[in-house]
Amino acid sequence: MKVDLSFSRFFSSVQETPWHVEFLEPVVSQISPYSKVLDIGTGTGKLLQFLINGKNSDCTGIDTSASMLSEAEKKLKGMAVSLLQVTSGATLPFQNTCFDKICICNVLFNLNANDQDFLLNQSLGILNEKGRIIILSPTGSGTAKDFFRKVSKRNNKGFALWYILTRQSARKWNTQGRIKEFCKEKNLVYSRRIVFDGFGLLELVERR
Ligand SMILES: C[S@@+](CC[C@H](N)C(=O)[O-])C[C@H]1O[C@@H](n2cnc3c(N)ncnc32)[C@H](O)[C@@H]1O
Repeated sequence: MKVDLSFSRFFSSVQETPWHVEFLEPVVSQISPYSKVLDIGTGTGKLLQFLINGKNSDCTGIDTSASMLSEAEKKLKGMAVSLLQVTSGATLPFQNTCFDKICICNVLFNLNANDQDFLLNQSLGILNEKGRIIILSPTGSGTAKDFFRKVSKRNNKGFALWYILTRQSARKWNTQGRIKEFCKEKNLVYSRRIVFDGFGLLELVERR
């Protein structure tokens, strides 16, 4: 428990670094003001902080980790936000079609296929007709030049660690094309964009 708590604290400090802010930016720019947003796997809540402050979003964050949520509560203290702990594989406790945007950042690429499918299906059920699912993942690639530029930037040390720790699963996720396949199966519109100087993949899912 002690280790878990200190990891959450460490993760919370990583979320404050310039590179992580830059990484989340393409997701923030997808959200229009006053949207109702669900952030699945919110971790310590940085995305929600941006969305509340910058977009006046109506935000809900869920996570399986109590210690991550406890750090999120600290980060979002005094803000109007709903934070909920969920159990992996359990139906999400929301009414159908209630969210305009569902963000899943840095979560799916680390899960097994069953958990990925479960979260995607659950997300689709609680997304409104004109809503969008926004998925951000690392690519596990990027040029050496950009890598060193980011590492040498002030306060960006966690970037190299993140890159090394996520590289393998990220590359697998990228070659699998799971979201594209999901969209094909469900007759949804899929689009993707490489972001964050080649280190990030943004995938968007919408109904036809
Ligand atoms: C790498 S962190 C990403 C945090 C944040 N989204 C970000 O991009 O900074 C992944 C988070 O997903 C959470 N998570 C893993 N499986 C989950 C699930 N099935 N449902 C909700 N959250 C989950 C973890 O507890 C962790 O906090």
